[in-house]
Amino acid sequence: MSILQGKKIILGVSGSIAAYKSVELLRLLMKEGAEVQVLLTPAAKYFVGELTFSTLSKKPVFSAIFDEKNTQHYWANHVALGKWADLIVIAPATNNTIAKLSSGICDNLLHAVYLSATCPVIIAPAMDIDMHEHPSLRQNIQNLKKFGNIVLPTNSGELASGWVGYGRMLEPHQILEHIIHIFMPKWHQSLSHRTVLITAGPTQEPIDPVRYISNYSTGKMGYAIANAYLKQEAKVILISGPTVLPEPSHNNLTVVKIKTAEEMFEATRQYFSIADTFVMTAAVADYKPKQKLALKLKKHQDNPSLHVELIQNPDILKWVGHHKKKGDFVVGFALETHNEEQHALEKLTSKKADMIVMNSTQFPNATFGADTNEVIVYTHTHPKYHIPNKSKQELAYHLIHYIETVRT
Ligand code: C5P
Repeated sequence: MSILQGKKIILGVSGSIAAYKSVELLRLLMKEGAEVQVLLTPAAKYFVGELTFSTLSKKPVFSAIFDEKNTQHYWANHVALGKWADLIVIAPATNNTIAKLSSGICDNLLHAVYLSATCPVIIAPAMDIDMHEHPSLRQNIQNLKKFGNIVLPTNSGELASGWVGYGRMLEPHQILEHIIHIFMPKWHQSLSHRTVLITAGPTQEPIDPVRYISNYSTGKMGYAIANAYLKQEAKVILISGPTVLPEPSHNNLTVVKIKTAEEMFEATRQYFSIADTFVMTAAVADYKPKQKLALKLKKHQDNPSLHVELIQNPDILKWVGHHKKKGDFVVGFALETHNEEQHALEKLTSKKADMIVMNSTQFPNATFGADTNEVIVYTHTHPKYHIPNKSKQELAYHLIHYIETVRT
């Protein structure tokens, strides 16, 4: 069961082009089993229609404090809604909304509910670069943080104006991660003393300048583990194969982008000595073409079959397991199609890992590309530990918690 199952969440949407992403955020929250009440500011309605939000949330959408038709009902609403919510998420939050929240101005229902609420509040700003740089925003954000609100950063990228810079609202799945974090059982242990090296995503093994051998890995699990560790204040080195996931940014994070298994191996060895925890989620190609052709391989009619000789790639996990330093903890992943337990236990020994996280293609809604995962974890010291199906972010928290339990 998802940690968000049955949680009462107010999704406040203000008037920004990023409002289209709130629709996806709403969909993700509903998928996690949350009960969501959408509140639109009057300006938000110019960007996305109420019908979209009410259909997806299965609830009427509220907007104005006063309703000509039913004043009494709406006037009572803001206090009731503020008390009803377990969490308020305002995404996107425009400069206007942020300024009003910061100064207590209360000229629409969302602002009134915000002032009545006693639950945690997450604010995801969205604005163009010039507004983002204005000192008033910095001051207002400082104010909101002083009130105890969680103000998320923005992503850098292309903005509605065509300019490129900070001000893009975080992606819906990144906001979901912060929401899940709020509801995770409080785990006060800081991991600031840990330096974690994580490999993630697929590798691409070139055949010629335009083709490669790869697999379906998306990197979602590795990125979720990186985020979970960053939330617990650990330092993270994320060695990532090609992925479409947005590159996380954090003061404690080093991202190394690679393409091939050899490059991943090189980067792992480079950071090996400073890390004490290794979580190898990458789906590393076991084999690579013996040679990369300098020119594009051409099709010949008289040659209907093609032989590409493959040679083995380095086994990065095995190398780390066999070179680990005193106090290091090494975690491997094992994706299996059959005889899962036997294969996982063999890997635990042959790779000298301290933990193998096994997921099976037999588990529904797990493995490559899925937003959820289900795993069975094997160690040398503890009975096997089953983590049932849950979002990859939530599973990541359970896993890093379990790593700490096993190693102490
Ligand atoms: O042997 P197998 O590929 O099934 O093992 C999977 C585990 O080993 C994963 O943790 C994966 O990241 C790691 N691995 C690796 N280098 C390879 C192959 C797998 O680090 N060449």
